[in-house]
Amino acid sequence: MVIFTDSIKVFLSVLVKAQILFRVPFFVFSCRGIPGKKCGTVIVTAEELGCCRDSVLMQFCANKLDKKDFFGKSDPFLVFHRSNEDGSFTICHKTEVVKNTLNPVWQAFKISVRALCNGDFDRTIKVEVYDWDRDGSHDFIGEFTTSYRELSRGQSQFNVYEVINPKKKGKKKKYVNSGTVTLLSFLIETEVSFLDYIKGGYWLSFNVNLILASTGNPSQPTSLHYMNPYQLNAYGMALRAVGEIIQDYDSDKMFPALGFGARLPPDGRVSHEFALNGNPQNPYCHGIDGVMEAYYRSLKSVQLYGPTNFAPVINHVARYAASVKDGSQYFVLLIITDGVISDMAQTKESIVNASKLPMSIIIVGVGPAEFDAMEELDGDVVRISSRGRFAERDIVQFVPFRDYIDRSGNHVLSMARLAKDVLAEIPEQFLSYMRVRGIKPSPAPPPYTPPIHVLQTQI
Ligand SMILES: *[C@@H]1O[C@H](CO)[C@@H](O)[C@H](O)[C@H]1NC(C)=O
Repeated sequence: MVIFTDSIKVFLSVLVKAQILFRVPFFVFSCRGIPGKKCGTVIVTAEELGCCRDSVLMQFCANKLDKKDFFGKSDPFLVFHRSNEDGSFTICHKTEVVKNTLNPVWQAFKISVRALCNGDFDRTIKVEVYDWDRDGSHDFIGEFTTSYRELSRGQSQFNVYEVINPKKKGKKKKYVNSGTVTLLSFLIETEVSFLDYIKGGYWLSFNVNLILASTGNPSQPTSLHYMNPYQLNAYGMALRAVGEIIQDYDSDKMFPALGFGARLPPDGRVSHEFALNGNPQNPYCHGIDGVMEAYYRSLKSVQLYGPTNFAPVINHVARYAASVKDGSQYFVLLIITDGVISDMAQTKESIVNASKLPMSIIIVGVGPAEFDAMEELDGDVVRISSRGRFAERDIVQFVPFRDYIDRSGNHVLSMARLAKDVLAEIPEQFLSYMRVRGIKPSPAPPPYTPPIHVLQTQI
C-alpha cells in the first residue's frame, strides 16, 4: 500500500496539472511501493517529447544554379516543405531572395523541429529552388529532398544536394542538374521548458500573496463583500476558487494575505496595505482556508475605505522579489479586485519596475464592472509602459471571474477552465525571467533504481 505523503500528492497534482495546463506532450508515471514501511515511496518520472521543443538554425548556399532571367542571372530563393502523413506537403519555410546570382548564400534561419518535420527525423523534407520574378510568376529551377536526420549530419559531403528539374531531365539527354545546394551549418537549439525546472526540484518556491481591494459596505447585499451567513460573497467565491488552484503551486501553503483600502482599528487610520489576519508582524495564513477565515474576520474589524491603490501592494511583493534574484524563488501576487483603481499611473510604473524581478501578477476581477483598466495592465494587446519605459517582460495576467460562474452567480461553471486561464501565462512569464537572467534548471536527480527486496507494487 502506497501512502502518499502530502508533498508527493502535491507533486503529482502539479505534474498532472502541468500536463493539462501547459500542454506538455506526455508524461510517463511509474509508481513503486516499498512494503513493510509505514510511509511508502512514490517515484514519478516525467518525460516530454524533448525534440519537439528544439529549434534548428540552418544556413544554405547554392552553386551554379540555372540562369533564368533574360537580362542578368537568377534571383534564387528556397522553399521548404514538410511532408504530411498522407503524402502531401506543407510549406514550412521560405528564405529571402538573393538578387542576381547563380551562387547565392542565404542567411541562416531558425525553424522549430515541429514545423520542419513534426518531430519525425526520417520524414521527407522537400526543398524547391525558385527564381524570383517581380510579377509573382516565380520560375522553378529545381528541387531536392532530404530529412532532419540527413541535415543533422551538418556540413559534409552528404549535405550537398543536386537540384533537379524533372521536366528538363526528361527532355535533355545531357542534363546533369540545375546546380547544387549545400548546407553550410546546422545547429540545434534546445528550448528549456517549465518542466525542466520542476524536474530540477525548482517548483517548491512559488509564493502567493492575496490582496483584496475594497468595495462597498459589507452589510449591504449589493456589496461584493456582503457578509451573508449562508453563502460566499463574490470576493469569497473568487478567493476560494482561484486560491484552491494556486495553493498547489506553493511550497508551504503559508500565504501572506494583505488587504488594501481600509480604515483600521483602533484609530481609524487609512491603510493601503494591512494584514488580513490583523498581525502585521506575521501576516501568513495557513492555506486558502486560513486566508478565507482572515478575510471574513477582517471584514468585521476594519472599515473598507477608498481610494483603491495597487502600487503599494505590488511594491510590497517587489521588495521581497528584489531580495532573491538568483532564481531560487519566484513570486506570484494574486490581486482580487472589482476593477476600480485610483492610482493607474503609479501602478503601471510599479509593474514596469517589477518586470525585472522574479514575479508575476494575477489579477482576478469580480463583479459586473468594466475591466478596461485591468485589461490595460494585462498588457496582452499593448505592452505596458510608463513614462516612455516599457516593461521588460509581460508579468500580468488578468482574468474576469464572471466569465466562469453561472447566471445565479453562485457556482463556478468550470474549475478546469478557470485554472487553465488563471495559470496560462505563468510558465512563459517564469521562463522569460530565467532566460533573461541566464538561469538554467538544475540537473534532474538520477533515475530511481528500485531496491532488490521490493516484493509487490501497488497503488
Ligand atoms: C520605479 O523605479 C524607479 C527607479 O528605481 C523609482 O525611482 C520609482 O519610485 C519606482 N516606481 C514606483 C511606482 O515604485
